[in-house]
Amino acid sequence: MGTTLLNRVISGKPTHERARLYFEYGCKNGVCPILFDLKGLNLKKRQVTGYVWKPSTQQYIRTVCPLPHVVHKRELISSPKLTALSRLLGKRLFNPLINRNKLMIHRLLRQNPRIQPYLPDTRGISAPAHVFQLIQRYPTVFIKPVIGSLGRNVSKIQAVGNKHYIFYPYKGKARSLSEFQLKQELAKHRLTNNHFLIQQGIPLAKYHGSPFDLRVSVQKGKGGRWQISGEVVKVAQHKGILTNLSQNGKAIPAPTVLSHAFPNRNPQDILQKVRRLAIEVCRTLEKTYPAFADAGLDIGLDHKGHPWLIEVNFRDLRYSFHSAGEYRMFKNTYFNPMRYAKFLLSSKSG
Ligand SMILES: Nc1ncnc2c1ncn2[C@@H]1O[C@H](COP(=O)(O)OP(=O)(O)O)[C@@H](O)[C@H]1O
Ligand SMILES: [Mg+2]
Repeated sequence: MGTTLLNRVISGKPTHERARLYFEYGCKNGVCPILFDLKGLNLKKRQVTGYVWKPSTQQYIRTVCPLPHVVHKRELISSPKLTALSRLLGKRLFNPLINRNKLMIHRLLRQNPRIQPYLPDTRGISAPAHVFQLIQRYPTVFIKPVIGSLGRNVSKIQAVGNKHYIFYPYKGKARSLSEFQLKQELAKHRLTNNHFLIQQGIPLAKYHGSPFDLRVSVQKGKGGRWQISGEVVKVAQHKGILTNLSQNGKAIPAPTVLSHAFPNRNPQDILQKVRRLAIEVCRTLEKTYPAFADAGLDIGLDHKGHPWLIEVNFRDLRYSFHSAGEYRMFKNTYFNPMRYAKFLLSSKSG
């Protein structure tokens, strides 16, 4: 994990990562984990300096041990050291280094015809014309960083006819703009310089007037098989367009919201479709990244209950499950990586 996070964990400060659960569930599986950051990794000596949880004294103990056979990477930043580790461990480093460029991931997924009907039209932006091309096709579009997270710098444009638009900037109030004004706004926020993508807006189903989507945790677990560890609904705050909890979205158990939003449908039928899509997405990415084993997918539902893949997160922070009170799912998200680690340790793969 990252150095800042590791320091917080060992000094007992609150974090989203419930690191102690790795020890609890690891021990149940016969796996003894050690927490370490890249500074603690010594590739030459093939050893790590890190921390293990000692339940008897309820504290983390600094430990030096040989390089583990399996590493669960909870760090997003790439570095030459990680590349070297990845080369050494192969499939036994999960997740591997995955390009976080959302356009690239979209292109990989688009190659699978079974996923195509669930992918919003998504393109890069290198000129204002690219924005206007898409906004002619769809009533709303989203603009977001090609590499981004936590809903940061995500904005929306809605076409209201007669070459007028409503622009919902990342920060600040929505504004009604002419085409010329919108061009100015795109320039001001530097949205057309290749660092952003534009995506067909999905008319997300609503819960008490606010749009929602689902966070689906898909992980390899027992026997090295993909499985759904949990799914939860994230509802945008009042008048908001972003469902991220970091943007004041709220996590709620999926059946509660689905039976409200789709009163004539069985929530389990909708969830089944969502789960099937989630697994298919992971299997497809696995073809390019064989060591890929842990993802948090953002999947939206339109008014008809049709699922749309919005984003693949390669380091799910998992706290949405806890936040919704879905403790069994939350537990799964820590338990399954330990089960997968056990599988890797006992198999000859990688
Ligand atoms: N195409 C879209 N249609 C509708 N809502 C979207 C769309 N893209 C993003 N959003 C909203 O914005 C949120 C953040 O977008 P996302 O692509 O997940 O980026 P981030 O990596 O910042 O979380 C989504 O969870 C969803 O609420
Ligand atoms: Mg997201």
